[in-house]
Amino acid sequence: MISSSEIRQKYLAFFASKEHSIISSASLIPDNDPTVLFTTAGMHPLVPYLMGETHPAGVRLTNYQKCVRTGDIDEVGDRWHLTFFEMLGNWSLGDYFKKEAISWSFEFLTSKDWLGIPVDRLSVSVFAGDDDAPRDEESAEIWKNLGVHPEHIYYYPKSENWWGPAGTTGPCGPDSEMFYDVGIEKCSPECDPSCSCGKYVEIWNDVFMQYNKLADGTYEPLKQQNVDTGMGLERITAVLNGYDEVYKTDLFVPLMEKISSLATTPGDTSKEIIADHVRAATFMMCDGVSPSNLDQGYVLRRLIRRAIRHGRKLGIQGFFLQDLADIVIAQFTQYYPKFADLRSEIKLELVNEEEKFSKALVQGEKQFAKITANLKPGGVMPGEQAFHLFDTYGFPLEITKELAKEKGITIDEDGFNDFYKQHQDLSRAGAQKKFKGGLADASWETIRGHTATHLLQSALRQVLGTHVLQKGSNITPERLRFDFSHPEKMVPEQIKEVEDLVNEKIKEGIEVHYEIMSVEQAHKIGAIGLFDDKYAEKVKVYIMGDFSKEFCGGPHVNNTQEVGHFKIIKEEACSAGVRRIKAVVENI
Ligand code: SER
Repeated sequence: MISSSEIRQKYLAFFASKEHSIISSASLIPDNDPTVLFTTAGMHPLVPYLMGETHPAGVRLTNYQKCVRTGDIDEVGDRWHLTFFEMLGNWSLGDYFKKEAISWSFEFLTSKDWLGIPVDRLSVSVFAGDDDAPRDEESAEIWKNLGVHPEHIYYYPKSENWWGPAGTTGPCGPDSEMFYDVGIEKCSPECDPSCSCGKYVEIWNDVFMQYNKLADGTYEPLKQQNVDTGMGLERITAVLNGYDEVYKTDLFVPLMEKISSLATTPGDTSKEIIADHVRAATFMMCDGVSPSNLDQGYVLRRLIRRAIRHGRKLGIQGFFLQDLADIVIAQFTQYYPKFADLRSEIKLELVNEEEKFSKALVQGEKQFAKITANLKPGGVMPGEQAFHLFDTYGFPLEITKELAKEKGITIDEDGFNDFYKQHQDLSRAGAQKKFKGGLADASWETIRGHTATHLLQSALRQVLGTHVLQKGSNITPERLRFDFSHPEKMVPEQIKEVEDLVNEKIKEGIEVHYEIMSVEQAHKIGAIGLFDDKYAEKVKVYIMGDFSKEFCGGPHVNNTQEVGHFKIIKEEACSAGVRRIKAVVENI
């Protein structure tokens, strides 16, 4: 038996012994990344550094990172899929490359001092090569020399052995994946690590990030050769303990036991779905997400509502999610200390949402039965009716889909999406599209917008007062959006004054540079920004003369003149006490 916390500690200790700095997990909500709603991998918060920015903690990093992937939410409940998971990772930012990365992976997995997996149980894959990048004989050779059996080394194409970009553009590269053979018979003579029968479980991925995928689909070499590795904590814990699913690990047992004690019927995969969704929801709320009909809030709402419905399927009555959240918080506060202050807030929010949805669920199920009374198995429910269930009863599409599946019918999803798009707020969020994930766009236009955002924040603080602080930002090549605390609508004179001040600072041609310093020193020089619990020791502060000092990872232009002309398009309410500015930067 090896516990998840022992694996977590060992991983960090191993890479610390190889001179890696241990950094904290970043928030589940990406900063300044409009292309994706959640942090989807350990490398995601590190994108600017993989592109060449200097990281305050150095060039060798390691951590455990909380991640959310909602792409295959429908698969949750099977043995391995999760929406929320933790990823152990180590990174080289232009420092070591294939030889060290692979040797260390091998040592950590097989050495008796660390995980002690027998070499016979290991298979690995490497990139087979194509027009974009060569066949990775180098990695294969390294594995062979370390002692991996040549017949356990597989060559696969891009579809299997290439990682990233998670969105459409950004850092990516060939990878080498490690598989654990659980010891069952091959399902067929062709069975190999790419087979999903369960004989081979992928446990770790070493990505050799040396390309940047551009918007036109081509790959350019990155400034530096990086390593990005990821090992799912839930999976490795299951495999090392001989479990055939993540829900049997100590990461889930307390939750599963509690759910079983509440349930009065067996209920198929409902327990697993509830356990996964409650974990994801609790972690999202810890990072400041509230249930809503927009963006992250909408994903959260979908998870909570689906968990409630599965609770009812198990015969659980009353509000039960807060007790489950308590278990998650008790289990994880030692790794994510922010939970300590948010326990009651999270529980209250869950009760509110349960209250809101419980009644609607009963009504909506009745309505569903009515709508589908005349549909035979194989029938199709019109999109408009599924939308009505969403709009009137708050049924996310997943719930309607599940109800439909239980009746053997399907839903016209395209039809649903047409109505959904017309739904004003939701189409604004583009939630469906962003649901899949992606990476920050590092185009020149976006970088200019990013620098403009810093200037805007300082200008707002100068004109309106120092109560103004960033509440969110979203920058695309086309425009920037900046949310900030301010109690009332700005008057046209104030808007003009802010706009003029930003343009004045652009014209002054102030040098943009950063300095790495302690959090204490950053506070002392008056730097603003979200310090959170990131990089416990050192932070990076971007400085534009005396005008702007802000904690930030970058990237930025080198001189404010490069921003171009700044123009505010709109000032509007965002939520209580928070205003939103939309602006553009134009070429002069
Ligand atoms: N980014 C890679 C993955 O998510 C390795 O960390 O698998």
